[in-house]
Amino acid sequence: MRPCTKKGMVMEAYSPVAHGEALKNQVIADMAKKYGVSIPQLCIRFDIQLGMIVLPKTADPEHMKQNADVDFIISDEDMQALKTIKHIENYGEHSFFPVFGGKF
Ligand SMILES: NC(=O)c1ccc[n+]([C@@H]2O[C@H](COP(=O)([O-])OP(=O)(O)OC[C@H]3O[C@@H](n4cnc5c(N)ncnc54)[C@H](OP(=O)(O)O)[C@@H]3O)[C@@H](O)[C@H]2O)c1
Repeated sequence: MRPCTKKGMVMEAYSPVAHGEALKNQVIADMAKKYGVSIPQLCIRFDIQLGMIVLPKTADPEHMKQNADVDFIISDEDMQALKTIKHIENYGEHSFFPVFGGKF
């Protein structure tokens, strides 16, 4: 069990779309296609299944609607694949704040 869980705390996924960088990741794109969802939907669902509270950021009302529509299940196998995905190396202007730590 995670140390924060033991203390009754829930983790927040603060930048679940990796500041937008996940949109450029082919592995994530291929898996999203397999589930018939967008990349942000897959990212958000991944974090939900990790037990996090997810706070995606969007300035687009259509994206906001889509981001709330995540009623699908990522298989255990695909969760494992996402957990061990090659880390994004370049977050561009957000490089001071990498988001996939691989600790979950
Ligand atoms: N107050 C909060 O709870 C909160 C939470 C997260 C971030 N933030 C703040 O917001 C800022 C940026 O956040 P972030 O970049 O780290 O968040 P993020 O959620 O990881 O990524 C946001 C990016 O993903 C894109 N995006 C989101 N949903 C999408 C969709 N359905 N389809 C296509 N693109 C989608 C957004 O573009 P579009 O706008 O075009 O959709 C934006 O470029 C930071 O300054 C952060 O501090 C605040």
